[in-house]
Amino acid sequence: MNPVKPTTGRIRGTLLAFYRSFMFPTNESMRRWALAAIVVNVGITVTGAAVRVTGSGLGCPTWPRCTPDSFVPARTDAHAPINMAIEFGNRLLSFLVLAVAVACVIAAWKLSRGERGRPVLLRLALLQPAGVVVQALWGGVVVHSMLNPATVSVHFLLSIGMIAAAVVLFARAGEGDAPAQRLVHKDIRTLGHALTAAAFALVLAGVVVTGTGPHSGDDAASRFGFDIQSVVRLHTDIAYVVVGLTFALLFALHVTDSPGRARRAALVLLVVELSQGVVGYVQYFLAVPAALVLLHVLGATLVWVCALRVVFLMRSRGPVPVLAPEQPELHHAAV
Ligand code: HEM
Repeated sequence: MNPVKPTTGRIRGTLLAFYRSFMFPTNESMRRWALAAIVVNVGITVTGAAVRVTGSGLGCPTWPRCTPDSFVPARTDAHAPINMAIEFGNRLLSFLVLAVAVACVIAAWKLSRGERGRPVLLRLALLQPAGVVVQALWGGVVVHSMLNPATVSVHFLLSIGMIAAAVVLFARAGEGDAPAQRLVHKDIRTLGHALTAAAFALVLAGVVVTGTGPHSGDDAASRFGFDIQSVVRLHTDIAYVVVGLTFALLFALHVTDSPGRARRAALVLLVVELSQGVVGYVQYFLAVPAALVLLHVLGATLVWVCALRVVFLMRSRGPVPVLAPEQPELHHAAV
């Protein structure tokens, strides 16, 4: 028996399934690509923070080149190789985000065609590559501004927008196209919207704390001139509001016998928020050590994803339409 053959067959099968997931998509594979977009956007947000906390923000001092005469890191006395590698690695990661964005668009484009096509998915998916292009150009602004905290903050917030777009795509791929029907009382829905707005305000206050704090990305970078204690207090006060709203939402969902999925999602949100709060306090009292800042950025994106998720689970657009997907050529299907 040749042990190589089954392995080759498995690899081929995996590659084929991968190819079919965007070339001959179903709503389910579209959802998986949207989930992949959430994951890579969260990932690059965390690695972007790693660039900042390791002081590698100007590791590649020019843009789009890494050094004035090279697209890849080249030896220079001005920047340590490790900082160059970290900043350049983060730039390379944007190609992964772009690849996932393109797969989302291809899958959504295929699902948008035909009589029962779903053009809404294509419109949402297009936000991903558009976001990558905007972020790549904005990255140049960040470098040219010498890491001005306002430009760094916008860079972070654009990623928060791309994550939101991917969450919407994920939600829409998993439901039908009927007009949205509330599954909860309208006051609870309003509470959910207020919670999302408060979560966004919390993220906004967070980037102001970061722009005021010590992790600028390079010694040469300027800082917001705010009093750090005051901005941290504002940030934590908003965090208390968010946790309070989440608790209220969870309670309201339970006493009104709302859908189990929405209740579970609200509980997950509360747990993520409380864990994030613990990380926030510990990092604050330990003078913001790099590793905890990264964990805090990961937590912030998770709070955002979970908050949006709860809102989408409080309404329904009917079952996912059964589409007649394009079939691959027979010789593909037979492999
Ligand atoms: C519970 C939900 C919370 C969320 C969603 C959240 C979110 C954020 C975000 C988005 C940032 C900016 C990250 C960046 O720009 O790279 C940030 C920074 C920060 N947060 Fe929070 N935060 C929360 C709770 C807290 C709490 C309770 C504290 C306690 C003091 C705290 C302390 C900080 C500090 C010190 C920074 C600045 C870190 C740095 O210098 O890079 N956070 N937060």
